[in-house]
Amino acid sequence: MQSIKKYKIISVVGARPNFMKVAPLHRVFKDRADVESLIVHTGQHYDEKMSDVFFNQLGLPKPDYFLGIGSGSHAEATANIMIAFEKVVLKEKPDMVLVVGDVNSTLACALVASKLHIKLVHVEAGLRSGDRMMPEEINRVITDSIADLLFVTEDSGLRHLKREGVDDSKVFFSGNVMIDSVVTYLSQIKEVTYRDSLGLKEGEYILTTFHRPSNVDNESSLTKLIQILRDCANRKRVVFAMHPRTKNNLLKFGLMNQLEEIKDLIVLPPLGYLEFLSLVKYAALVVTDSGGIQEETTFLKVPCITLRSTTERPVTTEIGTNTLIKDLDAANVSAIVDKKLATSKEQFSIPPLWDGKAAERIASSLIGFLSTKN
Ligand code: UD1
Repeated sequence: MQSIKKYKIISVVGARPNFMKVAPLHRVFKDRADVESLIVHTGQHYDEKMSDVFFNQLGLPKPDYFLGIGSGSHAEATANIMIAFEKVVLKEKPDMVLVVGDVNSTLACALVASKLHIKLVHVEAGLRSGDRMMPEEINRVITDSIADLLFVTEDSGLRHLKREGVDDSKVFFSGNVMIDSVVTYLSQIKEVTYRDSLGLKEGEYILTTFHRPSNVDNESSLTKLIQILRDCANRKRVVFAMHPRTKNNLLKFGLMNQLEEIKDLIVLPPLGYLEFLSLVKYAALVVTDSGGIQEETTFLKVPCITLRSTTERPVTTEIGTNTLIKDLDAANVSAIVDKKLATSKEQFSIPPLWDGKAAERIASSLIGFLSTKN
């Protein structure tokens, strides 16, 4: 009897937005007889609330390797991850390394795989904000330039990769694995009672969260953000899920008391996946600077304001519910908040192939690719 060839694939997770992207891929891999799926967690995010809760809720197994790197400067984090990940790759000799998104762990592990001549897959390839001041943009451009297979979530990704000279044969339009997770957990999201415990009713609150360095790393922009929260709280109750970076900076600049003085503002720690998505689903509006939340709100048809001058996910503004606002101009934000609160969900569409099946498509393509190489 001929035994089935098993391909060893290492999937990398490091920071919060990676977990919900790798979970559906790992689920599909583990159901296949021809894949041995290993998970390496770099430890870029390490708090219970930024990491463990996602593993538990998304059904991810304990990682096969936890590198325990932690945060640090970009150079420190990237270099430390590279040193530790290289040891894992040399020991495991995988057929393929799979990285998702655009965080420092993505870039670090991509570089290691590529230099050891291991096939490299980038899931969520081709996104570009055009803003090289964002660390994520550098991570995206470099990872895409060395990947052997690139899976794209939206049309703009195909155009960017073509323009950058990436061979068409490496690029696949797969849909969005992050939306696979939303689809999988939608029924559970509806049952989460966390919202009730906060006394929040459907459509009666604005959900906010911010962590972009350009918005939260300096006193002047943080002060503007506080004014925006104040203005939102004059319209509806506001829920503010505070990222550790934002919390650290609010404390550093002595601004926490200004926040605490805002009536009708509920300040929360970083939330679990199900709790946060359940708050998104029933919000009147989400105000954020996140990457992924722009996509989740578009899929759930919840109005979204993104406080950034550019987006790497333009489909969310073209056919989805997202509107960008630059410069943290409070008067402008208030005007758009009022407009958004008055819009109907019906006029928005869900982008092509955001259907919950992206991980299956990706698995078939990459196994097809590996089998032609062996
Ligand atoms: C990182 C990603 C960003 C992603 C975000 C989601 C990069 C360059 N940035 O940004 O793309 O949208 O994660 O959260 O990779 N901290 C903790 N506990 C943790 C993690 C972080 O307290 O578990 C604190 C540390 O003080 C750290 C700071 O938050 O210095 C920032 O963490 P870091 O991983 O450097 O970047 P993020 O801002 O989280």
